Amino acid sequence: MGVLHDKVAVITGAANGIGRAIAARFAAEGAQVVVSDLDVAHGEALVGTIVAAGGHAVYVRADVSIEHDMRMLFSRALEIYGGVHIMVNNAGIEGANVAIGEYDMAEFDRVIDVNLRGVFLGMQAAVTHMVTAGGGVILNMSSVAGLKGFATLAPYTASKHAVVGLTKAAALEYATQHIRINAICPGAVVTDMIHRITMNDPATEAAYAKLQPIGRMGTPEEIAAVALFLCSDASSFLTGVALPADGGIMAG
Ligand SMILES: NC(=O)c1ccc[n+]([C@@H]2O[C@H](COP(=O)([O-])OP(=O)(O)OC[C@H]3O[C@@H](n4cnc5c(N)ncnc54)[C@H](O)[C@@H]3O)[C@@H](O)[C@H]2O)c1
Repeated sequence: MGVLHDKVAVITGAANGIGRAIAARFAAEGAQVVVSDLDVAHGEALVGTIVAAGGHAVYVRADVSIEHDMRMLFSRALEIYGGVHIMVNNAGIEGANVAIGEYDMAEFDRVIDVNLRGVFLGMQAAVTHMVTAGGGVILNMSSVAGLKGFATLAPYTASKHAVVGLTKAAALEYATQHIRINAICPGAVVTDMIHRITMNDPATEAAYAKLQPIGRMGTPEEIAAVALFLCSDASSFLTGVALPADGGIMAG
């Protein structure tokens, strides 16, 4: 029996990349998974893959930056599975890769709306249910850019620092109500986001790999393994943690 047997997990940004790997891993560990994303085709395809392997999953389209969508996502999860034990606020966008002087303010607003407002709305929907249910686990996707500065990604960096702040404040607010709230701070992970940031340029990709002292980027599955730890009872004494999963970047 998997370690998430009988658990229901809602995962945002779950159609691709890190979110997809988390959804697949949680389903393999017995969770009933609500795959949420804007990307209908890849979201439904993932659900098909999980169900074909004997797991349980549904796709619900929701934009994390829209309050109504996040409330609807939770209502749907409760309607379908009768409860939610785990909420993973993973959806995020990198925004433009340019210096502050050239940054477009509409793009700035979009990065903050998805990465900060989206995580806040996801936590708000989750705690509203989890307080009544008697507990739960929330996992927010930050980044090493939530722990140190990255030039030409200032709004992204600021939004990921904010996710760490939200995680710590929320963990304190809900600690006595049996809701554990943690964050993962990944280094560079091989997903579409990294391919966009590096513009698929092999030299830039090699430079990104070298950012990690271990000399390579991470895989989505390696981040999913950390997510499983933080969302399972194995981490029952952890709350308010922003855990680097970064091949050693934050050791430097
Ligand atoms: N890839 C990396 O190197 C890396 C490193 C550190 C942190 N992260 C974080 O991990 C998370 C996942 O990143 P990824 O690399 O898998 O990215 P990705 O671009 O491969 O996947 C992100 C997913 O989020 C979805 N999404 C985007 N905006 C959304 C919205 N408004 N509502 C709902 N879904 C939305 C996309 O459709 C996509 O499926 C992000 O929060 C990202 O900032 C990634």
